[in-house]
Amino acid sequence: MRQSRNVALLVLLLVGVAACQSATVSRQQIVLPEGDAAAGEQAFVALECTACHTIAGKELPDAEEVGPVTITLGGKTSRTKSYSELVTSVINPSHKLARNPFKQQIADNGESVMPVFNDIMTVTQLIDIVTFLESQYEIVERPRYRYPVYTY
Ligand code: HEC
Repeated sequence: MRQSRNVALLVLLLVGVAACQSATVSRQQIVLPEGDAAAGEQAFVALECTACHTIAGKELPDAEEVGPVTITLGGKTSRTKSYSELVTSVINPSHKLARNPFKQQIADNGESVMPVFNDIMTVTQLIDIVTFLESQYEIVERPRYRYPVYTY
């Protein structure tokens, strides 16, 4: 009796450990090989990402069609855009929708208006585009405000 309870506990424990492990493995950051930023810029233009995106401080040729939104990528940011965030934005555009002020324009029924390029873009293009985009962000420290303390 007692032994079977111990076995049941052990099984529960092992299942628990396995569940935790698979969770950590599947959530780990992906690591892609080194990309080529110049090729990424070319792919960004060739795939017409420029229909909806401009790159801060960079002149790129216009896309043939103009998209419903213009969202600037790159430029100053107070928070590192991690590699995996950029990859996720490209291969799974509806994963996290941008917040205001474009709420209406960016999504239709909760789906991003950004097309899914997964059947068009090669993995090499993805790697290069992410390398290119990553190089366009400049991290700046967010100023820290000191709130005055009022005493009466
Ligand atoms: C039809 C318009 C459209 C096209 C074309 C488009 N995007 Fe987007 N993209 C969006 C919209 C809208 C958002 C913001 C909302 C969202 O996350 O879906 C976005 C968001 C992004 C983001 C995340 C930006 C951030 O600050 O988090 C990246 C990176 C991005 N796009 C890359 C690309 C790349 C690379 C291409 C071309 C392969 C592309 N986009 C083509 C509309 C577009």
